[in-house]
Amino acid sequence: KEQQLYKEGMVKLMPDGWLLPAAFTRIADKIYNFKLRPSDVILMGMPKSGTTWLQEVLWTMLNNPDLNNDKTDTPTPMRSPQIEFDALADSNAWDKMMVDFGELPQSFQDMAAEFSFKEMKSEDGVFLKMCEALPDRRVMKTHLPFCLLPPYLLNSAKVVYAVRNPKDVVVSLYHHFKNFQFHSYTGTFDNFVKLFMEDDLLFSPYWPHLRSSWKMKDHPSVHFVFYEDMKTDTMAELRKLNEFLGANLTPQQLSNVVEHTSFSSMKSRLVEFEGKAFKSDAEKNEGFFRKGVIGDWKNHFSPELEKQMNHWIENNTANTNIIFKGN
Ligand code: A3P
Repeated sequence: KEQQLYKEGMVKLMPDGWLLPAAFTRIADKIYNFKLRPSDVILMGMPKSGTTWLQEVLWTMLNNPDLNNDKTDTPTPMRSPQIEFDALADSNAWDKMMVDFGELPQSFQDMAAEFSFKEMKSEDGVFLKMCEALPDRRVMKTHLPFCLLPPYLLNSAKVVYAVRNPKDVVVSLYHHFKNFQFHSYTGTFDNFVKLFMEDDLLFSPYWPHLRSSWKMKDHPSVHFVFYEDMKTDTMAELRKLNEFLGANLTPQQLSNVVEHTSFSSMKSRLVEFEGKAFKSDAEKNEGFFRKGVIGDWKNHFSPELEKQMNHWIENNTANTNIIFKGN
């Protein structure tokens, strides 16, 4: 409950210093007390770890494995909402989401109107209401850490946690902040990496998030998925998920899901959305579905920056057995 104002519009929740839109404090209790069902799946992970991909995989496995659901064209976040999205959608919070990164090109209200979910600004928690209303089995996503989620989470639901090599995470995040209509980062890549390592970005800090979840990795209700494993052998990861979720999908259904959630399929379904939400052309690989590959960091890091980030990773993974892939 302890909090301090960080910069205008943002709040740092102590003791770890979770950096969130100040609007989060209005829905924090609602989230903490959110009523979960035993059939629920909560997808956790830091932004850019492949969470949208896994959201679509999990939702399709549990709700549309024969690919005959007519909701397929509905954007994933409407079928599988992000629990804390009301805090992000609040116009003030949105305006201030990335402090010091310049003026926003258009107001959030414009976009809300365009996508006809104008009520998004409601303090009642429109997205939480959507979550409440969803039929079984619900797949809900969050970038929040365990300590801000319902304390009985693991007794009542299953958690899938997405991890990706932080060097690729920061590259992906950099492009997102540069091109997403509401962030408009104009600084250098090197400076952005510094902001990331100094926990100065939304949903920071990185290590307490990952380490507090990694501690739970052997809990029977927790399953970790590495982005790099998903890329290397999607079917093998889906088989593990099938087992973990008790979904009993047939090999044919699993292969439907692999096909339906491939990078090109997901991108083709959302190209229009990308065009509206991102400043640059989705076709130029600058939209939300950007590249979707392992190791793009090699195209961005100077040897010196790579050394610094490796050092940061080594220091923070000492005494854990976290081993990132895609180095
Ligand atoms: P890149 O920017 O490296 O391309 P998140 O959803 O957690 O924010 O992660 C976004 C990243 O996942 C982006 O990475 C995006 O392209 C990638 N991604 C999204 N869908 C994907 C898919 N179906 N297959 C592979 N990567 C995907």
